[in-house]
Parts: sequence; structure tokens; C-alpha cells
Amino acid sequence: MVCFVVGARPNFMKAAPVLRALADQAPEVGRLLVHTGQHYDREMSEVFLAELGLPTPDVSLGIGSGSHAEQSARVLMGLEPVLLERRPDLVVVVGDVNSTLASALTAVKLDLPVAHVESGLRSFDPRMPEEHNRKLTDHLSTGLLAHSQSAVENLRNEGIDDARVHLVGNTMIDTLVLHLDRARSEAPWEAWNLSPREYGLVTLHRPALVDDERLLGTTVEALIALSADRPLLFPVHPRTRARIESACLAEAIEASGVILTEPLAYGAFLGLEAEAAFVLTDSGGVQEETSVLRIRCFTLRDNTERPVTVELGTNIVLGAQPERIAEIPSLLAAPVQGDPIPLWDGRAGERAAAVLLKILG
Ligand code: UD1
Ligand code: UDP
Repeated sequence: MVCFVVGARPNFMKAAPVLRALADQAPEVGRLLVHTGQHYDREMSEVFLAELGLPTPDVSLGIGSGSHAEQSARVLMGLEPVLLERRPDLVVVVGDVNSTLASALTAVKLDLPVAHVESGLRSFDPRMPEEHNRKLTDHLSTGLLAHSQSAVENLRNEGIDDARVHLVGNTMIDTLVLHLDRARSEAPWEAWNLSPREYGLVTLHRPALVDDERLLGTTVEALIALSADRPLLFPVHPRTRARIESACLAEAIEASGVILTEPLAYGAFLGLEAEAAFVLTDSGGVQEETSVLRIRCFTLRDNTERPVTVELGTNIVLGAQPERIAEIPSLLAAPVQGDPIPLWDGRAGERAAAVLLKILG
């Protein structure tokens, strides 16, 4: 039996294609889906299960929010008895959130092999909590499933044996490929009276940006100024919502051309991404999706662990410098170019499932 652990929003898009492909390739292999509950609001979790065709989780740990130590400890405490009782042959973790590392650690301490989907990403920025999650998870894992060549090279540079590393491509893009036509046909922009290619789409949630009151304030000012140029639609992550409210910024934003919404369901967000004039973000997954959609992406961070989105995709890393948001209208004048990214082709889940079956022997 293979145990899949998910917990936070981007996990669902990455795990669903692998679960589906494993069921297709080896229906006889049992599957156990554990949801840690790191994300728990309906629009950060439940909404994605049905939409992405994930089964109802067999086990929900309900760990909720808290400090890094609290979240990790609750996963360790909650997952251990589940793994002891069910004794899966393999534990699959995805991405780089706290649930990922804590689940991998729980499994290896019980001598269970771990496969890590989206292995090898490195920002080389130790201030990012995800960087520790990624690195440590990779070093705990038996199967390292990478989505790009630079990830393979990062693992090699850390001395990880090539035999453990498998370049399978990007499973999050499988989800995009599967849902894109539906997402576009639902014309989600109409709900805000927007037109395709007219609006900018914004998502921000990194603590380095939104937990810094000065940076958040400057970002909001820059967004308000940019919204004089064209409408901006900003589905707000709950971390960011809390920071905007505590800094009393909501009223000024809402009085401008910036439309704030709750976090959106996957299809609605994907449709909006696919027809945006540009996307401004600090999300990892959104840098990847815009690259495949060939929509210009501006990343409000100092670095990216996804260099292929800059080299072959549509990503421009602005830096954590909100004042650079003012450059967007002139930067948009340059045509969007780029090449298809190898193995980001909608079939990574199939290749990932084949690797899992190989590990299972
Ligand atoms: C987490 C991941 C991050 C990922 C992001 C995806 C870690 C360290 N961070 O960041 O890598 O990019 O998820 O969205 O794992 N909250 C709610 N409702 C929810 C979830 C969160 O209100 O359903 C609020 C809580 O106040 C919570 C805060 O958001 O304290 C942050 O949530 P948390 O899961 O700790 O980190 P994220 O910022 O979501
Ligand atoms: N996403 C979504 N609704 C939203 C914002 C994002 O469905 O309102 C999707 C997005 O298309 C991508 C994933 O969430 O598939 C990215 O998750 P997030 O930005 O929370 O995390 P990160 O990728 O930064 O870890």
C-alpha cells in the first residue's frame, strides 16, 4: 500500500495526477490518503478535493495553524500511529511545506521508505522555511522525483546518489493541462466584469513580504498606483488577509481599482491566470503555471527555486522591491517569448507512478 500525504493548497495539484496514474497503472496497489490539515479553510483545502478528483482523505490529522515547531510536532504525533497501524510500503510526500518534511521524518523513523515529488528545488536562501523543508526531505527520501534538470543537478551537488533521482517532470502541470479548457470556458473574469487580457492577477503570501509591515505597505501603495493603469484582481491568501487587516490597509485598497477576493477555486484561478494581461506573485506554483500558459509573470521575491521559469518560461524576478511594480507597464511592452519546458507536458504523473512502482519492486 502507498500512503500519500497532503496538507496545504499547492499539495493537492501536485499529488492528484500521481494518485490517479498509480490507480491506472496498478489498481491492485492500495492507496491511503492522509490530509494533515495544515490548510483547513474550505477555500484552501476542501474545495480542491472534489474539483481535482482526489478521494476523500482516509485520515485527517487536523493539525491546523501554529508555529513551525507546533505544526511539525502535530504532524509527527498524528501521523506516527497511522503509519504504525497501516504499515504502508511507501510514503509519498509532495512539495516543500511543513507537512512535507514532518511526514517524511515520521516515516523514516519507522523505517518506511519515502518518495518526494518535486525534489531538488533550491532557492539557496536559508531565510525561507521551505528551503529547509526541501533539503531535509530530499536527504530523507529514497525516491527523489525531480521536475527539471536544475533540480537534478542540485541533488547531485549535494552528494545524493544519481540512482535515487528520477527526472519525471512537473505533476502540477498535469493538473493544469487536464483542467485548462474547462477553466477557460467558465470565463471566471465575468464575475468581476473584466475582459480577457485586460486585468492583472495578483497573489502574495510569503512571510518575507507580507509579514514585513513596511514591505506590505509599500506593496499595497504600488498596487493602488498600478490599478490606475488597469484593473487588478487579488485573491487574498489567509496569511495576507490577516496582515492587511492588522495594518488597516483594506479600506484604501478597496477604494482603488484593486479587487480583493477570497482565495479562489482551482478552475476559477486557472482561467483567470490563462487570460490575464500579467500575473504578479510570490507563489512558487504560479511561476510555473504562467510559464506554461505563456502569460508574463513578475515575481516579487529576491530569488526563485524555479530557474527554468526564467530561462525558458515567462518569469521576471523583480526582487522583493515593491517599488519595481511601477515598471510593470513598460516591462509589458516586451513580447513574451520562451520555449516549452522539457517534461512539463501533462504526463509527469504517469512517469512518477512508474517510479513509485519501481521502488515498490
Ligand atoms: C504554507 C507553506 C508555504 C506555501 C503555502 C501555500 C510552510 C512553512 N509554508 O504557507 O510554503 O507556499 O502554504 O499556500 O509550510 N490560515 C488560515 N486558514 C487556512 C490556512 C492558513 O486562516 O486554511 C492562516 C493562519 O492564520 C495561519 C496562516 O494562514 O497561521 C499561515 O498558514 P501556514 O500554513 O502556517 O503557512 P502559509 O503561509 O499558508
Ligand atoms: N491557486 C488557487 N486559488 C488561488 C490562488 C492559487 O487555486 O486563489 C492555485 C494555483 O493555481 C496553484 C497553487 O494554488 O496551482 C499555488 O499555491 P500557493 O500559491 O498557495 O503555494 P506555492 O505554490 O507558493 O507553494
